[in-house]
Amino acid sequence: MHSKSSLQAAFDAVKERQAGLTLDFNTPLSDVHITQSLRGRTLLCTGGSSGFGAAFVTAFAKSAEDTAVILADLDVEKGIALQDALKAEGCAVKFIRTDVTDWESQVNLFRAALAWLSEISPGRSIDHVICSAGVLGGSLDIEPSHPAELDYKNLQPKPPSAKGIATGLTGSMYTAQLALKYGMSLHVGHDTALADKSLLLLGSLASYSGIALQSDYTASKWGVRGLFRSLLNDETSASCQVRINMLAPFFTATPLIPAQMLLYLKAKGVKFARIEDVEAAAMRILVDKRIHGRAVSVDVSGPFDLQDDWSGAYGATVLEGGIVQGNLSMPLVQVSQPRSRD
Ligand SMILES: NC(=O)c1ccc[n+]([C@@H]2O[C@H](COP(=O)([O-])OP(=O)(O)OC[C@H]3O[C@@H](n4cnc5c(N)ncnc54)[C@H](O)[C@@H]3O)[C@@H](O)[C@H]2O)c1
Repeated sequence: MHSKSSLQAAFDAVKERQAGLTLDFNTPLSDVHITQSLRGRTLLCTGGSSGFGAAFVTAFAKSAEDTAVILADLDVEKGIALQDALKAEGCAVKFIRTDVTDWESQVNLFRAALAWLSEISPGRSIDHVICSAGVLGGSLDIEPSHPAELDYKNLQPKPPSAKGIATGLTGSMYTAQLALKYGMSLHVGHDTALADKSLLLLGSLASYSGIALQSDYTASKWGVRGLFRSLLNDETSASCQVRINMLAPFFTATPLIPAQMLLYLKAKGVKFARIEDVEAAAMRILVDKRIHGRAVSVDVSGPFDLQDDWSGAYGATVLEGGIVQGNLSMPLVQVSQPRSRD
């Protein structure tokens, strides 16, 4: 039997080691560092036509010489417009129409992406993948019917939306599997200088809380967090040497959030994160080869390490700090009241 104090000492030692892993976003990377790290590198970004995805695609394409970017999205009009605008500036960008919820569509995406890359230079594979495709999905309708309206024999209840789960969670799982198994595999073990590969998942602060009755979205983002964790804790994913990280931003004004919800959140005093800070956090993760297994959030004050590990009480310590400061003044994080039928 361990004595309590020897166990405590062991816990303290692990805590100290983990605390040393916390990322400091106060010192931004220099432009030189970004250019050197991304020269000749490749990004595949789902959901790249709009919002965060469009910002990631644009920043990566313009970051250095000889980058190549595959932009995968359902939105053809916006995707082609962005592809053409970046091509006009001399960037190598290819839009591929993709429905991330459909396995065959994603298989075609990877097939077409690898074919295009090997046209640019033989044997070139994908270095970085960002799973940014997502939709808010629908809300759960649990409002009780009035007994007078109930007609049990003719009940035709509609199922709730699971589009958020299909797009954000299933879509990311499909992308992760294809990326790790085929998309990124060519360079691993061949040329260590070129071997830095990373997969960046898009969670959300909804991965750590619950948006009232937005169960589809909340469940999809908790699921993405589970996907992130499960990829870290496996010997196969460790041996393929791909860095796995997750971005979990707070509310940001992008087309994802309907105008009415945006007005509601503003009226509630929610302080939005800035899209430039989300973009900067993603670029930092892609460039910095030390960053692996980290969940990074972004609020009005910029990016920060969520400390989603034991030393940070799996994000709770950092989130509590944000709530106390008022940056994460969520109408979402509430302590549930006991319910009584009296
Ligand atoms: N905006 C926020 O407040 C916020 C906060 C945290 C996390 N996120 C997450 O960031 C990611 C990007 O969101 P955004 O805010 O940029 O939204 P957005 O609506 O601007 O972009 C999402 C993109 O995904 C694409 N898409 C939707 N369904 C698709 C499908 N089936 N196949 C392929 N593409 C599809 C859309 O066409 C769109 O271009 C999402 O995963 C979202 O959940 C957003």
